[in-house]
Amino acid sequence: MPVQSLHLDLFQKIKSMGFNTVSFYVFWGILEPKQGEISFEGFRDLQPWFDAAKQAGIYLMARPGPYINAETTAGGFPGWGTYTPGLWRSSNTTYFEAWKNYVSTIGNILAANQITNGGPIILVQSENEYTGFAPGYSEDFVYEAELLTAWRDAGIKVPITFNDGYPSGHYLSVDMWGGLCLNPWFSISFSPCPGYDSYPNGFDCSNPYTWAPYAVPEWLFYAYLEYNPTGPNNVYEFQGGSSDGWCVVYNAIQRTCSLTCCLRGGSGYDSCAILIGPEFERGRSQLRDAHSAYSEHLATVFYKNELSMSTTYLNLYMIYGGTNWGGIGHPGVYTSYDYGSAIAEDRTLREKYYEIKLQANFLRVSPAYLTTRPMNVYSNQGVFTGNQALVTTQVLDVVGNMTGFYVVRQYNASSNAMEMYTLTLPTSSGNLIIPQLGGQLALDGKDSKIHVVDYTAGSSHLLYSTGEIMTWATIDGRDVIVVYGNAGELHETAFKFNSTDIPYANVVSGTQSITTGTINSSLVIQYTTSGQTVVEVGSNVLLYILDRANAYDFWVMYPPSTGSFENYSTTNPILIKGGYLIRSVQISGRTLEITGDLNSTTSFEIIAPAESSREVTFNGEPLALETTSYGTLTSSKCLSLPSIQLPDLESLTWKTADSLPEINSTYIDTLWTTADHTTTVNPTQPGTPVVLYAGDYGYHTGNILWRGHFTSTGSETGFRANVQGGNAFGYSVWLNQTFLGSWVGDAIHANYEGTFNLTGTGGLVNGSQCVITILQDHMGYEEDWVAASDDFKTPRGILNYSFVGGSGTEISVWKVAGNFGGESYVDTTRGPLNEGGLYGERMGWHLPGFPDGSWQEGSPTTGISQAGVGFYRTTFTLDIPAGVDYPMALVVSNSTMNPYFRSQFYVNGYQFGKYVNSIGPQVSFPVPQGILNYNGPNTLAVSLWAQGADGARLGSFALETTAMVETSMTPVVNQPMPDWTPRSAT
Ligand code: GAL
Repeated sequence: MPVQSLHLDLFQKIKSMGFNTVSFYVFWGILEPKQGEISFEGFRDLQPWFDAAKQAGIYLMARPGPYINAETTAGGFPGWGTYTPGLWRSSNTTYFEAWKNYVSTIGNILAANQITNGGPIILVQSENEYTGFAPGYSEDFVYEAELLTAWRDAGIKVPITFNDGYPSGHYLSVDMWGGLCLNPWFSISFSPCPGYDSYPNGFDCSNPYTWAPYAVPEWLFYAYLEYNPTGPNNVYEFQGGSSDGWCVVYNAIQRTCSLTCCLRGGSGYDSCAILIGPEFERGRSQLRDAHSAYSEHLATVFYKNELSMSTTYLNLYMIYGGTNWGGIGHPGVYTSYDYGSAIAEDRTLREKYYEIKLQANFLRVSPAYLTTRPMNVYSNQGVFTGNQALVTTQVLDVVGNMTGFYVVRQYNASSNAMEMYTLTLPTSSGNLIIPQLGGQLALDGKDSKIHVVDYTAGSSHLLYSTGEIMTWATIDGRDVIVVYGNAGELHETAFKFNSTDIPYANVVSGTQSITTGTINSSLVIQYTTSGQTVVEVGSNVLLYILDRANAYDFWVMYPPSTGSFENYSTTNPILIKGGYLIRSVQISGRTLEITGDLNSTTSFEIIAPAESSREVTFNGEPLALETTSYGTLTSSKCLSLPSIQLPDLESLTWKTADSLPEINSTYIDTLWTTADHTTTVNPTQPGTPVVLYAGDYGYHTGNILWRGHFTSTGSETGFRANVQGGNAFGYSVWLNQTFLGSWVGDAIHANYEGTFNLTGTGGLVNGSQCVITILQDHMGYEEDWVAASDDFKTPRGILNYSFVGGSGTEISVWKVAGNFGGESYVDTTRGPLNEGGLYGERMGWHLPGFPDGSWQEGSPTTGISQAGVGFYRTTFTLDIPAGVDYPMALVVSNSTMNPYFRSQFYVNGYQFGKYVNSIGPQVSFPVPQGILNYNGPNTLAVSLWAQGADGARLGSFALETTAMVETSMTPVVNQPMPDWTPRSAT
């Protein structure tokens, strides 16, 4: 998300979900694209990120690498690393020399923003999953120590952490060690992974209803204890979604596609959101978003399983994934990095957001959990429930009040069966069989529940509650306790009292009745969770009994305290029911000021101290208040969504120019880089007389052009080339001006050897000067997950070529063009990876302000009628009113007429879409406000590379809103969008 003024929006959403910390990677390659020249210009400036986190009251965990993985090109390494000798991710001197400048520079910046200096950073992670090693290599302790020293020398004082790829004891010298395990389906050779990992549901979004049978990575806990027997169970990455790629099943570790990978691309992020949906997080739920009817059966199984192992540091990867805009991604992913996360790419909230909110808020008010240990990690089948189809872990507070958390789920996580059970639990009042007032509890399919025993909620002592606790808060001396279950479920909550003077429980609101009983010194309340029922227990307790949909509507907000960390307050909670999102509360005298977002006309219930809520405003406007019989406030707010006019892209005036002049006979490439290296340090030694790896000449992103000059003998019948660009890449070949053909690409091939017929070209006569032009795609560099493999150096370019026929024809000169300036890139605002090597990109045609007055009219939906590259420009104005959040996307449809083309979409110079129509699957490309100018002119540019002889066109092209929300978010400030300036011809 390059729009810095939108960071606050994301942080606030995460904070309101109940989380307190965000971990973030820093991408070295984008900051130091040329060795020794580090830049924080434009979106790369991290200070607004730190400031927004602090403003939202979010702590940060920095993960600056130097290696990050993260589905980024080269796993975050700079492109120049591909021609730097020596093994990376080792203590090799050349690698040390490469990273030390970056680490000290970023280290200084992080240090200035760490909590000891008043900033939000509380942890810094060194390296990333330094866990797997190339054959013959192992953990390099010198490298690890060098990094630790460098971080400390840069001034990092907060604990340094490390995320082992699975609990295997790597990098134990850091201050806080954490473990996660790789997906067992990765069947990696260097380390068998005999259990469950932290991406336990895998990455196959094409089969979102297929679950691993075992949800619980139980072995993880003991494997972890082996290395960290007394520390907290840190899970630095737990599956928050799934990446999706050109390949249906992409193995991020082996960088290959499985056999089931189809030739077309992945299945799209809506499927990933189902795969790791609310059920994954919890269990059954009422459907909130329209992803599928299957949501009716969803369950939170995996996160609660993780919590059954006293996981006190739980980081979800990703909570917001965003966009692989402008060349950021590696070849395993397409433009969207939505990840199926709780917060979607367009910053809207998925149903799972609300599900996670229930769990996070529960943990936040359950300090007893922090000192728990799981008592029966393995012996969990049938225990406490007597039902062999269920497993239950007793998670016991071992130092406090012996609060118990009983995590119940299916033995077979993929089961959809309805299981009935009673709980036999040890409590401070002896062993009890629950429900005590008769009946049975139910676990419906993919679900999991946390039942509490001897749980403290303010001055209330819950002897137990089978209804799950969403939150509790003591407000005006009264304990407000919010419990929930699935609609129609039977539950029981028992209050324990010190005296025999047991108060009455009365329903004060809602349609459901309750059954009560007094057993010894406790009041047992049995109820059905349907809708909302409010029960007064004596005068000191208000019990909200909710079904899941109603629980989703609750927000727990904390007014700011004082001082520079005022927004981190966790005292004086205020409960608000209603609203698509509540962002903040503030108390000003007797007025409670609420800010939030709405997507429907909304009824509110507000539970706040009476003296601080005589008046209540929502987004600055007073609410008309009513008081309930039990002393809370209600109100409602009409939705106001002004309609807007969006341009019809297809009827705009478009200008077009040929973006492949390189094939013209008059084209002169003398200014291009001559590819004349005869040696390379690249581990892949070239099969060509000169090195034809674009990276060796400083071109690391986007499209690459090659021109090979030769003198024909007249007898060549074909040209064979093996070109490599990464999964889903393609290339096209011309002899002089004649199109020879393309490898159109598929989701599987990272390189392809094609043979192109020269006999039909008519140009080959003995002694004629000829040029072979190859236009190839560069899908990003491979990652380097396996340390000391140097996989990221896997070249992009021509691995081999030869003439068929022709005796001894040789290419005398090879020329190469990539992004304008290569590592000395000129667009220092939009960064080093944003533009590629197409002629139009080199000339800056994608930028606002380029004078296209002399161009012809022509649009991308008309397209071109032969193989080649067309470039298209148009402008339009947006006028979106303030106070709304209307995220937008560029939406294309496929053209079956011209099935093979590759397009890039540039919005105000930022590349926000790379579309390969024959592979897909992405057809909707979100473009954030701030890249789109919502109040003024916009420049939209499209490159269209037709890979077939018949040309190509976009089937359709539109700008659409993806959501409409009334918002209180801070006004968006556009990212800088510098205009075109003349560039020398290339
Ligand atoms: C982890 C890695 C992350 C990301 C994730 C998969 O192993 O640390 O950077 O690549 O896998 O999305």
